[in-house]
This record gives sequence, C-alpha cells and structure tokens, in this order.
Amino acid sequence: MTILVTGGAGFIGANFVIDWLAAGLEPIVNLDKLTYAGNLENLSSLKGNSSHVFVRGDICDQGLVEKLLAEHKPRALINFAAESHVDRSIHAPEDFIQTNIIGTFRLLEAVRAHVGAISDAEKAAFRFLHVSTDEVYGSLLPTDPAFAETKRYEPNSPYSASKAASDHLVRAYHHTYHLPVLTTNCSNNYGPYQFPEKLIPLIIHNALAGKPLPIYGDGQQIRDWLYVGDHCSAIRAVLERGRLGEVYNIGGNNERANLDTVKSLCAILDGAKPRADGKKYAEQMTFVKDRPGHDRRYAIDACKIANEIGWRPSETPDSGFGKTVKWYLDNDAWVKNVTSGTYRAWVTKQYQ
Ligand code: NAD
Ligand code: DAU
Repeated sequence: MTILVTGGAGFIGANFVIDWLAAGLEPIVNLDKLTYAGNLENLSSLKGNSSHVFVRGDICDQGLVEKLLAEHKPRALINFAAESHVDRSIHAPEDFIQTNIIGTFRLLEAVRAHVGAISDAEKAAFRFLHVSTDEVYGSLLPTDPAFAETKRYEPNSPYSASKAASDHLVRAYHHTYHLPVLTTNCSNNYGPYQFPEKLIPLIIHNALAGKPLPIYGDGQQIRDWLYVGDHCSAIRAVLERGRLGEVYNIGGNNERANLDTVKSLCAILDGAKPRADGKKYAEQMTFVKDRPGHDRRYAIDACKIANEIGWRPSETPDSGFGKTVKWYLDNDAWVKNVTSGTYRAWVTKQYQ
C-alpha cells in the first residue's frame, strides 16, 4: 500500500509527508512540479528513505498522474499542489487558474479513469482528499459567526476564486461520478518550512535581517492561526474517518489581528535573540499600502470535525509561535538558501 501526495515539496505538503512517514504509515509517492514554492530541502531529512519516492511533474499532466496511479496503486491521493499566495494571484492570476482549476480537473479525470479500472473492493477503499482553504467563504464582519461548512462561497481574490472552483469540481465529481472524495477547508497555517513570502516567516526573517516589518493597511485584519502539524493531523483523521463527499473545516480557534500577531512574534524574538542595539524588534514595524480586496476577517467553526471525527488542535499560538520562531532560528541555512534563491540553483542542476 502507498499513498500519492501532490505538492509534497511545499510548506504543508512537506510537513505532511515528514509527519506521515515518522508515524510509520505507508510509503508515499510525492508528485511536485517544484515551482518557486517547492523546495526539496524541505524533504532533506528523508534522504535515503525508500518509503519516499519523489517524482518531479505537473498535476496538469493527466497522463503522468494516470501512470503513477496504475504503477503504484495508492489507496489515496491527497492534493496539496496549488499556487497558494494571495498577493501573487493579484499580480499574476494565470498560474492560479492553470494549477488550481485545470490541475484539479486533471487529477479528478485521472482518478475517475483509475477507479473505473480497479476492483470494487479497491474502489471502496480509495480516497481523493482535496486540501482547500477557508478563503473560499469570503470575509466576515466582526460580529458574524465563524465559517461553518454550510457557509455560502464568496471568494474575493483570484487565489480564493480558483480554490473555490476546484472545490466545486471535486463536489461535482462526487455527485455525478460517485468519486470517493473528501474536502478540507483550513485556516491560516504557520510552522517549519513556510516560504518567507507569507506573513509569519516574512516577519521573522525581516526582523532578524534588520528590515522593515510590513503591515498592510491598519493591521486589524483577523486570521485564525493553526500550527501546520495540527493541520496535518486533521488531514490524517479526515482521511481515515471522514464521510465520503463531505467537507470538513479545520481551524485553530485562534483569531488574531495581524498587528497582534506581529507584536507577539517581535516579543518572542526579543527574548530569544535580542537586537544587538538593545532596541525592540517592534520598532521595525512599518504600515504599508493595503492589499487590494483584502479580506477583513476569517474564522473557522471547527465543530463538525471535532464532533464527527474527534479532531482538535493541540497547539495554541502561544505555544506554536514560540516553536516556530525557534525553528527559524535553528534553521538559518534553510532560510538563507530560500531567500538567496540557492535552492533554485540546485533544482536547475538536478533536473536540467
Ligand atoms: P505552497 O505554495 O507552500 O506549496 C505548494 C506546492 O505545490 C509546491 O511544492 C509547488 O511546487 C507545488 N505545485 C504548484 N503547482 C504545481 C503543479 N502544477 N503540479 C505539481 N505541483 C505543483 O503551498 P502550501 O501553503 O503548502 O499550501 C498547500 C495547500 O494547502 C494548497 O492547496 C493551499 O491552497 C492549501 N492551504 C494553505 C494554507 C496556508 O496557510 N498555507 C491554509 C489552508 C489551505
Ligand atoms: O486562510 C488560509 C490562507 O492563508 C491560505 O489559503 C493561503 O494559501 C495562505 O497564503 C494564507 O493566506 P493569507 O493571505 O491570509 O496569508 P498571508 O500570510 O499572505 O497574510 C496573512 C495576513 O497578513 C493577511 O491579512 C495579509 C497580512 N500581511 C501579509 C504579508 C505577506 C501583511 O500585513 N503584511 C505582509 O507583508
């Protein structure tokens, strides 16, 4: 038995692969295109581990996905592959349409062909788990209830619209073709191996580099932060106990305004690695132009996954932010390679 993971060289995918194999679960075939966000250094701890087979390729390549399904006969396909950064989707939406919509469509078509060709018992055991986001639900007012799975889709950015489209395709393939699918919609993740274009690693990196800490608009936008290891444990739980065709929201019950998040990170850094000049990292905070169409508030109602599946997060930001800052301090070489682009040079050499 194996599982097929897509996007497993990115932030959440790599954490998922590492945690899965550390738990002694089945071997993984990891299909990743290695875009700027894919980094094989995230998987360096698995070097020589025969339970991890890496394949460089595109989820839009349906023939390749069909070949991998036929060759490895995985019991599940977990789709992490995506263009994931909202700001990039505002500057250049095309890749988001291609990977997030067309790519998911190609995966669904490959899985449809595959489950049509395997035995009834294999089909009954097979799962296509689609990893999605809370951003598909749009933006909340301060007094609105948190996003439940029944919330209307109101995506506001090219990124969230492309993820919403992919979620609809997954739903339609279950309804029309009875594909054995599960969908998860998760809130903001943070933790090891996150590319420093996203708020938390960007703030840690800029703080240590003596650069400004950019805060969009008034910094009062609210996000519901979840430690990446908790997201991975939720996905494992949904894979094993989720009901076919169902959607499960995943969140940390941790709503925080961006300004408070940045101040918390600065305070942790003040303790862990004080500035040489004796000043506080918070002095580097700089308010900058807001993100166009910036969603004001996200919050997840995680009752369904708690009640049906028994999953709850184990970290709070107070514990998780501290662990994360420590990881970035301890993994200075990873940060340097990512920010200098050195890891891309290796990818070019390896795959030219
Ligand atoms: P990421 O950008 O760090 O990683 C994405 C990975 O997908 C990279 O390794 C990249 O090389 C790969 N990839 C991109 N296009 C591909 C293609 N066409 N074919 C194959 N591989 C391709 O993203 P992430 O933050 O790890 O997010 C993973 C998934 O989780 C995404 O679907 C995202 O929408 C979702 N999600 C992310 C968050 C978050 O806070 N980061 C929260 C909720 C949901
Ligand atoms: O909610 C889940 C989503 O969380 C995922 O689907 C996305 O893939 C992931 O990127 C993330 O989206 P956000 O846009 O919320 O994350 P980001 O880290 O880009 O920004 C978090 C908040 O911080 C957001 O309100 C914008 C703000 N921000 C971000 C950056 C990069 C700043 O104020 N300054 C910054 O420099």
